[in-house]
Amino acid sequence: MRAWGDLPGDDPERDRAATEAELAAAGIDLDPTPPGAHRHGDETHPSDHAHPHLHSGPGEPPVIGIVGAGAVGTALGVALSRAGWPIHAVASRDPGRRDHFRSLVEVTRVFADPEPILDEVELIILAVPDDVVPGLAGSLRMYSGQAMIHTSGALGAEVLAPAMAAGTQIGSFHPLVAFADTERAVAALHGATVAIEGDDQLAGLLADMAEAVGATAVRLAPGSKAAYHAAAVLAAGGFVALLDAIAELGRVAGLDEAGSLAIYGPLIEGTLGNARALGIRAALTGPMTRGDIGTLRAHLDTLREHAPGVLDLYVAAAVREVALAEERGALAPEAATKMRDVLAAALRRSPEPVP
Ligand SMILES: NC(=O)c1ccc[n+]([C@@H]2O[C@H](COP(=O)([O-])OP(=O)(O)OC[C@H]3O[C@@H](n4cnc5c(N)ncnc54)[C@H](OP(=O)(O)O)[C@@H]3O)[C@@H](O)[C@H]2O)c1
Repeated sequence: MRAWGDLPGDDPERDRAATEAELAAAGIDLDPTPPGAHRHGDETHPSDHAHPHLHSGPGEPPVIGIVGAGAVGTALGVALSRAGWPIHAVASRDPGRRDHFRSLVEVTRVFADPEPILDEVELIILAVPDDVVPGLAGSLRMYSGQAMIHTSGALGAEVLAPAMAAGTQIGSFHPLVAFADTERAVAALHGATVAIEGDDQLAGLLADMAEAVGATAVRLAPGSKAAYHAAAVLAAGGFVALLDAIAELGRVAGLDEAGSLAIYGPLIEGTLGNARALGIRAALTGPMTRGDIGTLRAHLDTLREHAPGVLDLYVAAAVREVALAEERGALAPEAATKMRDVLAAALRRSPEPVP
């Protein structure tokens, strides 16, 4: 609709948009499919080739289908349906996973293969392993009006391009959550971020979808997805590897896993709190900030003797700590060089340089 005071001809772009909006409001389609026919990919088909996929009403969530009833597909299915975004269809090749999904989510259609989902829904969510996404997209072809997204953090939306036809959209929806357990993941979605890609219209829908499950959508800079995902892998899997190394050293000190988590957990939480409050650089503490080379040597000796599997990880972290301490001005360049030499020698498994 035009606003009062706007005169036709002042702004052709605005006039065209207003006219289109008025025509749409009057139910007039400027690019109509012939009566009784429907679009199928780029082509228009006659009515005897029925076009079955369902359409949501105005203001309603899209009709959703999920391909993959694994960790992410199932948790998203649960979270979305609880949020009033019903899941119409799911596809999983595994009967056990199909039954599990059905036991948690009220779903109308259940398929073994992904293809029939395209005959049913408006928004197709591919929640399958990263390596499977491109090939799967290449085997599917959307209908006009449909959108397809994947949940991979590493892949860009463009890998879905082979499934596109005229009038379709692609995007991605990557929740920054570790999907180890369905209920814990559904809870963790609250307050999490979801990285989204897609053109403005689809991105708006995906932002609403993120909000529906309690999360906040973030749009990534184009081409940055691999770096964003590598950081996520360090924050989740990398952190678990660090915890495992901490627990291994805890065992040397006589602690079991629960004991290590009880003792070092508060230290970890305190460090995270410091980093949030003061910044990462200011949160660094320990021998590397003091140039305490005697302590560093003692650590490396005990690691070599009692936990050689932790040595590489300790050294890699320490090299980074020395750089941070030097940048912060806590460590003089000579002290930093000395520490780097000790660390490099430890990594080469060679004798330390004579001080
Ligand atoms: N796990 C996480 O913490 C996490 C977090 C954020 C994003 N993601 C992303 O979400 C996606 C799914 O991860 P996930 O952890 O849910 O994986 P998953 O638990 O292994 O589940 C993958 C699902 O895809 C189906 N599948 C496997 N190969 C297939 C194929 N060739 N054709 C069709 N379906 C196939 C599986 O098999 P069936 O058909 O046999 O059921 C299963 O249902 C990945 O892109 C991952 O990077 C994961």
